[in-house]
Amino acid sequence: MRLRRAFCLTCYWHQNAFTAHPYPDGRPVALPAPAAELLDAFGTWSTPEEAAKTLPAYDPQTVTEAAATLLAHGLLLAEGTPEAERDEHLARHWEHWVPEAAFFHYATQHDVYETAGEDDRHDLTADGRPPLFTAYPQAHRVLLPRVPAPLDAPLGEVLYRRRTHRRFAGRPVPLPALAALLSTVFGPVDYIDGGGFGALFRRTSPQGGARQELDAYVGIRSVDATAPGWYHYNVREHCLELLAGGCTAEELATLCGGQGWAADACFVVVLVARVERMLVKYRNPRAYRVCLLDAGHLGQTFVLTATALGLGPFQTGAFHDTALAARLNLDGVTSVPLYVLGAGLPESTPDPDARPAGLTAFRHTTL
Ligand SMILES: Cc1cc2nc3c(=O)[nH]c(=O)nc-3n(C[C@H](O)[C@H](O)[C@H](O)COP(=O)(O)O)c2cc1C
Repeated sequence: MRLRRAFCLTCYWHQNAFTAHPYPDGRPVALPAPAAELLDAFGTWSTPEEAAKTLPAYDPQTVTEAAATLLAHGLLLAEGTPEAERDEHLARHWEHWVPEAAFFHYATQHDVYETAGEDDRHDLTADGRPPLFTAYPQAHRVLLPRVPAPLDAPLGEVLYRRRTHRRFAGRPVPLPALAALLSTVFGPVDYIDGGGFGALFRRTSPQGGARQELDAYVGIRSVDATAPGWYHYNVREHCLELLAGGCTAEELATLCGGQGWAADACFVVVLVARVERMLVKYRNPRAYRVCLLDAGHLGQTFVLTATALGLGPFQTGAFHDTALAARLNLDGVTSVPLYVLGAGLPESTPDPDARPAGLTAFRHTTL
């Protein structure tokens, strides 16, 4: 029987053990480090005897026995089996996303309920319980107006009026509009009893476990009566806490992955995950997916609210994580930027490059 190393296999050290983790369905297995040499010998279809010839330091019988163990763990696959075909299909289909994205997806698709009962944790001490709110008590702050947001536009109209804006009128955004946007999207709506975790708050967006791990940081370039700079939005005080002065057009374009149009945005809002707030309850790595989903929910509420307030919103997945974290004085470990939103005053054409699809475009479309 000929064997081959699984294409969909990620190896790493975990808790000081060399670990091989096959996906989509395999389990991580701790192995002695020489197993890497053995796996390496099965880069192409080979019998254990053939592989043993490339491993002169090992006794052929040992290689055969070890290969049987690696096969049992799905690290080696047997030629002609459905497992081998699926492995090849996955590696080919996910192509450039292998290994990072494919590994993350498949390695977090199981064991959702392995740590069930987490909700009932009463063992958290005051020290172990992450604060509900992020705050910079020493920072200079801008207290924001509490003008009720005129959010009475019909939902249907707002839904169909929303577009991603990449062109903006050259005027500053009124401060009450920014204030209303921040409080509507990020402010607490009410408080619920989270058991051992104490009180939790809810927002206008659903958020996994009501953990509210996402904080809003605001880069202001052009907002009425507000100095350009990088701020944290303190949801409890409804204020902007100054972290660093200055926020230029060039900086916005650079931080948004070199996208020139972002230079004209009046402000950006960076969604930053406070990792511990989620991790302390959900110890399964699948919870990281929920952080990303939570960011999407906040993003959608942001763009709809901004539209209802007469702003031209956008969102971008392209941004420089480390440069952005550094600008916000975040360590990039306990607090990680996940999503960048922004807005300005809309131009009549939100996106000059978005032309209606005509006959030529449809000729080049697989419907
Ligand atoms: C998660 C996400 C990431 C995006 N990233 C970018 C981006 O990096 N650059 C950009 O110009 N547009 C980005 N967009 C905007 C999309 O290109 C836009 O939504 C799409 O063209 C549809 O246009 P619409 O938003 O007006 O409906 C992103 C949208 C989403 C939802």
